[in-house]
Amino acid sequence: MNKKIAVIGAGHVGATCSMYLAEANLADIVMVDIIEGVPQGKGLDLTEAGPVRGYNAKVFGTNKMSDIKGADIVIMTAGLPRKPGMSREDLLSKNADIIASVAGSIKKYAPKSFVIVVSNPLDLMTYHMQKKTGFPKNRVLGQAGVLDSTRMRAFVAMELDVAMTDVQAMVLGGHGDTMVPLPRYTTVAGIPIGELIPKDRIKEISKRTAVGGGEIVKLLKTGSAYYAPAAATVDMCRAIFCDEKKVLPASAYLTGQYGIKDIYIGVPIVLGAKGVERILELKLTKGELKSLQKSAATYKKHLEFLGYK
Ligand code: LAC
Repeated sequence: MNKKIAVIGAGHVGATCSMYLAEANLADIVMVDIIEGVPQGKGLDLTEAGPVRGYNAKVFGTNKMSDIKGADIVIMTAGLPRKPGMSREDLLSKNADIIASVAGSIKKYAPKSFVIVVSNPLDLMTYHMQKKTGFPKNRVLGQAGVLDSTRMRAFVAMELDVAMTDVQAMVLGGHGDTMVPLPRYTTVAGIPIGELIPKDRIKEISKRTAVGGGEIVKLLKTGSAYYAPAAATVDMCRAIFCDEKKVLPASAYLTGQYGIKDIYIGVPIVLGAKGVERILELKLTKGELKSLQKSAATYKKHLEFLGYK
């Protein structure tokens, strides 16, 4: 294949990303992890599945960051996952160190790549990644909105017993408990959910969406979600490679949109061959805007903790 995607981290999220990427026949994949044997084993296993699953993508596992050389997209999944009772922000300083070290290698070996950050706390790690690589902001973005929205889409579909693919949803804000699900922009085949679901149930669905990651952590007990996070990430890779100009929520750098600046946070973007090509400014209600700004304010404080003013 003529495209190359580097997946940093061969844990559940990294390996599942690699599997979905291979099945999508988008690119050859290099999976990097510090644990000896794990990326190599999972990579070979995934390559061997190709003839049966009908893909030609090769998955190469390695412990050397230099093997990401020339990657078109780097997916950053490495980092500690949450344990029950932990917030994503509890992972802040440990994962920030990992981001800084990986960012140095990305800069060196894949200086033209797009970087999609999946590690938590998502919006903060994306900001940190952009600063540490020094890459243009359209080339560094965070995967969270597609995940949070797909959760909301699934919950709406379950509620109404309709096709999940018919449901569209929009979830903005930080990838944490302050996220802002927008029922007004959530539809089933174009029909606003307000016409189909009673208000109190919509509230419940929004609430469940906001703690959707935590629900999985509680069930798994030893880690966090990976199928939906990986699926969301692969969707973003396709949008970049195929220049889809796909409208989706993602963590992007704001320069005053929604009255917020110098922060990465979840907003609707147009994703294409140039990465973040545009940020869409929706006409939010006062309440929605306040929630988004409140979410951003929480992250500002954490950025100060990381040494950013
Ligand atoms: C989640 C984690 C991966 O939301 O942030 O499942």
